[in-house]
Amino acid sequence: MNVSKIKTVPDNDNNIYLLYDENNNIISIPESIAIILDGNGRYAKKKKMPRELGHKAGCEALEVILEEAVRIGVKFLTVYAFSTENWKRSETEINALFNLFFLYLGKIEEKATKNNVKISFIGDIYKFPKNLYDECDRLMNITKNNNRCVFSIAFNYGSRDEIVRTIKRLNSEHFDFSKITEIDISDNLDTKNIKDPDLLIRTSGEFRLSNFLLWQIAYSEIYISDVLWPEFTKEEFYKAIISYNNRDRRFGGRKEK
Ligand code: FPP
Repeated sequence: MNVSKIKTVPDNDNNIYLLYDENNNIISIPESIAIILDGNGRYAKKKKMPRELGHKAGCEALEVILEEAVRIGVKFLTVYAFSTENWKRSETEINALFNLFFLYLGKIEEKATKNNVKISFIGDIYKFPKNLYDECDRLMNITKNNNRCVFSIAFNYGSRDEIVRTIKRLNSEHFDFSKITEIDISDNLDTKNIKDPDLLIRTSGEFRLSNFLLWQIAYSEIYISDVLWPEFTKEEFYKAIISYNNRDRRFGGRKEK
């Protein structure tokens, strides 16, 4: 399928653009998409520039994909921006990332306000510098009534850490663990307001989950793109969506022929 032949047609009733393939078949859009943004460092190396500039290019790519996701009707977009393991990086790189996050959250705010997007954060953001988590709180607060799309940013997020924090919190609330159900767990994770991803995208050709949404991706379709995150364009995004359209989702059951 040639993505350059994809047509987008406005659907004014729903305030989105519908995607059609070259044979005029409608392309279905996953309601919930999660992305592991990988390859900023390799992009910087390829362009012979400092790693920080690779991350800056990654922020710019994210702005484009957020806007496109909202435009075509994705309801939940969740991105992995800083993991609990990323603290192992050099102080210089971590500080550069924090500065970039602060700067680009401003740009995300503009896009969210313009496009009726609710911003949320998953992960233990309160281990970040105060100016950064204050900004996160502010953005959550000012966008809390927006309802076109939920854009969730994973900041200081690790799936195992999320599960441990959840169990500790339930324990402190004297939860009766003898009666626990899967729904109780889903409803108490950081992602309680996010639909489990239909599609998980990872860029830069790595076949790893890296401690991202391990509980939530039980039945997600996985798409690995060879493209480095800063080079991930809306056409690459379409490729992932086309691939999703070709999957046969059975959720463990079988389809009657
Ligand atoms: C992984 O690339 C990427 C990161 C650790 C940071 C990702 C963050 C962004 C793209 C920006 C998000 C911005 C906001 C405002 C939410 P890497 O450095 O591991 O790449 P490498 O594997 O090629 O070295």
